[in-house]
Amino acid sequence: MNTQNTYILGIESSCDDTAASILYNGKILSNVVANQAIHETYGGVVPELASRAHQQNIVPVVDQAIKQAGISTSDLDAVAFTQGPGLMGSLLVGTSFAKSLAYGLDIPLIDVNHMQAHILAHFIEKEGYEKPEFPFLAMTISGGHTQIVRVDGYFKMTVIGETIDDAVGEAFDKSGKILGLGYPAGPEIDTRANLGNPKAFKFTRPKVAGLNFSFSGLKTAILYFIQKQVKENPQFIVENLNDICASIQYTIVGILMDKLKLAVKDTGIHRIAIGGGVSANSGIRAALKQAESRHGWQTHVPAFEFTTDNAAMIAIVGYLKFLENDFADQSIMATARLKI
Ligand code: KG4
Ligand code: ZN
Repeated sequence: MNTQNTYILGIESSCDDTAASILYNGKILSNVVANQAIHETYGGVVPELASRAHQQNIVPVVDQAIKQAGISTSDLDAVAFTQGPGLMGSLLVGTSFAKSLAYGLDIPLIDVNHMQAHILAHFIEKEGYEKPEFPFLAMTISGGHTQIVRVDGYFKMTVIGETIDDAVGEAFDKSGKILGLGYPAGPEIDTRANLGNPKAFKFTRPKVAGLNFSFSGLKTAILYFIQKQVKENPQFIVENLNDICASIQYTIVGILMDKLKLAVKDTGIHRIAIGGGVSANSGIRAALKQAESRHGWQTHVPAFEFTTDNAAMIAIVGYLKFLENDFADQSIMATARLKI
């Protein structure tokens, strides 16, 4: 098999984004994402609607990725797809499509773990981007995930901490809902946090042993706090919105940084790579920068397009597995609770 000139199609459909990307020897030729605005109306992802939207989007999205890359389907060497974890109805669309396409083109099919892909996104060839060296600690933070993973090799990963309830992105989004903000609320909370006082209000941090996280208690604490304040002053939210957002963000970033510091202490590894939608947060980015100068950490934050759900990260895993001849067969199935 010729591994010198390899075109991989990556397909991602685990949650509410339908995405396709073409990689040529690890370099991006195209990276197309169709977001599903429909969920904004409901304040969260509605699985049945997500699945239906994937069915509508998958053909045009893959078609666009191939066209933008300037290649044709006959150039493809393999099809990589997200096997899990994710929403079953959503995963099924990408999985069935990838299986049919690989079968039709008679090329290898490659199954990809979405959580591994968030981490291996750091290995997409990008000028000026310094890839992390092994071993490193990866923190994946998004609307669906919160994990700290020890990474000793491309496929040598150990989850050393994860949330026992809500994901960190949900903490942002659910807090935003309490405050009457739109969905997803993370970006607006971030913007407002930069205009407010992070110490204006104090929220108790959850006490979870070791490297695991918990965010559901924080959401409840914020809800009770707001309800109490609004009872005394109906204008409380409007009058203090930036300070509330700053205080929420300060608390969440504090929780993430405390666990990261503990992980660094436990493992002795100072290289940190983050990924997932929440890694766009200016508070976490600033805290990581500070840890570089204060604690000598080396931190890696990929370009925004590779932190949120995307198919380039699926394609890079596809490429790495392709080089190892690690292929799936047609009996492979979407797996909603796939583990690293
Ligand atoms: O990775 P992503 O696009 O989708 C998945 O959840 O898989 O992440 C979306 C999450 C949402 O919860 C959103 O509120 C959060 O990332 N988010 C942010 C920011 N930008 C996106 N949270 C805090 N600050 C941000 N700037
Ligand atoms: Zn994700």
